[in-house]
Amino acid sequence: MRTTILDVQKMKTRGERIPMVTAYDYTSAQIADRAGVPLLLVGDSLGMVVLGHASTVPVTLDEMLHHIRAVVRGSERALVIGDLPFLTYTSTEQAIASARRVLQEAGAQAVKLEGGVAVAPIVARLVELGVPVMGHIGFTPQSVNQIGMRVQGKHADQAAQLIMDAVALEAAGAFAIVLELVPAALAQAITSRLQIPTIGIGAGANCDGQVQVWHDLLGLYTDFKPRHAKRYAELADTIGAALASYAAEVRAGSFPTTEHSSTMDEAALRAAIERVERAAQDAA
Ligand code: KIV
Repeated sequence: MRTTILDVQKMKTRGERIPMVTAYDYTSAQIADRAGVPLLLVGDSLGMVVLGHASTVPVTLDEMLHHIRAVVRGSERALVIGDLPFLTYTSTEQAIASARRVLQEAGAQAVKLEGGVAVAPIVARLVELGVPVMGHIGFTPQSVNQIGMRVQGKHADQAAQLIMDAVALEAAGAFAIVLELVPAALAQAITSRLQIPTIGIGAGANCDGQVQVWHDLLGLYTDFKPRHAKRYAELADTIGAALASYAAEVRAGSFPTTEHSSTMDEAALRAAIERVERAAQDAA
């Protein structure tokens, strides 16, 4: 049985912290699911960490669907949330059409979209139609060309706006809200005002849950380390060393060995070669 948004609400009510991680493919979903992570976000961050774009802006809905399907296939217990990419929810009609594809065609159980008061009517309509929606405020990566990549809400007017955004999303029926790059004290103030959980990234320890990007968490970058990320492994180093050993063994002829090869009856091979040689002579 997959985690549901009702389970997520119960976690907040019980005061249980909620872990969430991004996943972009079958294998990573399987690993995270088996590790017991209850929420998997197929984030449009895949545009940067998987596809190599400079921002999330170029990501298309078709690309999201491709990755969401793989994550759904790789997981059994986690709630899978699919990001609606840039400019795929500019009107209620478009948001419904996009969410339909994420839930019906790709099999996610919820969508996430960026924005506060401005998108609240769209969130309300999606929720009314049965689409679980996770909000996302603070630093909203799809707006990077307007706001840059920096902490949001340090000043009173911005902080007040973020509180109003969070309240509007809750009133619209969002089941949780991501707070990205928000001062810890503001994230705490928002969290304490809401019945629904907040999931922080670069928003301090007092959110109800935390989300990290797969590549940041596992050290899959060699040089880029965002301040809000904690590396729980250095997989780029581990993978790099493994690949270097593999290449060295291939060059040295020490891989593969008989252990990695299969055998066949010598007579069968001889017969095959004779047959081919006879056919070549007949054709000459
Ligand atoms: O796309 C993403 O991975 C996200 C998280 C950083 C919250 O939106």
